[in-house]
Amino acid sequence: MSNILRRGRLASTPDEDIMEFTSSMNADKWIFDADIMVDFAHTIMLKEQGIIKDQDCSSILNGLLRIREEGIEKLDHTYEDIHIALESRLIDMVGEDVGGRMHSGRSRNDEVATCIRLTLREEMLALMEELHLLRCTLCSVASENTETLMPGFTHLQHAQPTTLAHHLIAHMDALGRDGERFLSAYSRVNLCPLGAAAFASTGFNINRELTSQLLGFDGLVENSMDAVSSRDFLIECTAVLTNLMINLSKMAEELVIWSTSEFAFIELDDRYASTSSIMPQKKNPDTAELLRGKSGVIVGSLMALITTCKALPLSYNRDLQEATPHMWKAMQTTRSSVRMMEGMVRTMMVNREIMASKSTIGFTTATELADTLVRATGIPFRTAHQIVGVLARGEGAICLQQIDTVADKVLGIKLSSKGLTEEMVSEALDPISNIKKRNIIGGPAFEEMEKTIIRRKET
Ligand code: ARG
Repeated sequence: MSNILRRGRLASTPDEDIMEFTSSMNADKWIFDADIMVDFAHTIMLKEQGIIKDQDCSSILNGLLRIREEGIEKLDHTYEDIHIALESRLIDMVGEDVGGRMHSGRSRNDEVATCIRLTLREEMLALMEELHLLRCTLCSVASENTETLMPGFTHLQHAQPTTLAHHLIAHMDALGRDGERFLSAYSRVNLCPLGAAAFASTGFNINRELTSQLLGFDGLVENSMDAVSSRDFLIECTAVLTNLMINLSKMAEELVIWSTSEFAFIELDDRYASTSSIMPQKKNPDTAELLRGKSGVIVGSLMALITTCKALPLSYNRDLQEATPHMWKAMQTTRSSVRMMEGMVRTMMVNREIMASKSTIGFTTATELADTLVRATGIPFRTAHQIVGVLARGEGAICLQQIDTVADKVLGIKLSSKGLTEEMVSEALDPISNIKKRNIIGGPAFEEMEKTIIRRKET
């Protein structure tokens, strides 16, 4: 059959080059299943409203079932999009007198917006499940490492002792907020634009609530002009994906750094590593590096999407066809990145001894020592900060006598005379007692961390 959209207003057919430029068939593979569902719901509604006959409805539904079985490959890919390719195939199967009735009271503008929302909804649910799994894995590795000491960093410099559990739960919590953002975005994605037709709705007596219910939407995108023009849900969702990817990239960066000989905190499982084509000894953390790299690409997708939507007048503009694939790409990459991260964290080997042995390097207990001076002697924190700072300039183990010498210079008094004892000093310098003392909510103290993990498991 000749092109069903090229028999009326338009006399000539575009050449291959023009088709390639204008077609969305490639990206439309994302919405093939959704389009059939939308056709189903619309057709049933047309029948319920008495707009098409029962018999025509059954023929159309049967045709659609067969098209679904045949798969997208059987469609004529020279059409400009999936909607027309599908309708054309249907007409081939059941004849124009029947198949030609399916598009009554509808436009591709509301159709495509509905298909995107339907597919995105499924993708979001799948992603949320994968994200949940990653958070569970972080929680379970954390629960095995509540007593694994490590240096905590600021500016990537050793700062204070902490535990691996404390570090991992930080990532888990950040990802939890990404999950909450998805959930919130979901409520705005799961709304039905169908029935808006081109933009001005339709004079057919259609039932928008019915199609919305049949497709499992929570409600309508009510205004028909808004329904076909809005892609804010795409921007919102891609922004959430971008934030998630940025969180994952931070984790990936740590996996890369922690795998170096300098750190040697962890060793990634071999399946997430690659070797060198020339250096036989190499084990490179390529999966983590690629994840870090892909996060940049997703930032680019968000920018491309936003810029495509900017300054478009109401209502539907074909530019919108260029917007959607950026979101699909972001979704696909983010989902696989979440899975990669889950696998890497679940299978990595933790070098507990090395982590613990490095937990005090760089005088990480200095803050606790300064705090101890304050609590033991009543001097102001800023003065204690100065005394310990001077001590940090020197080398070797710190003892009460040294503290007295510095305090004498700074304050003109020895802190041992104000109640500071050798035991207090050695306790302050012990990383385990540092951690135990940080037992306020959210801190790394062993018991506090156990409680945190129980709370996380509950939620
Ligand atoms: N391929 C189009 C898109 O993705 C479908 C809607 C086309 N509508 C139109 N009036 N040309 O936006």
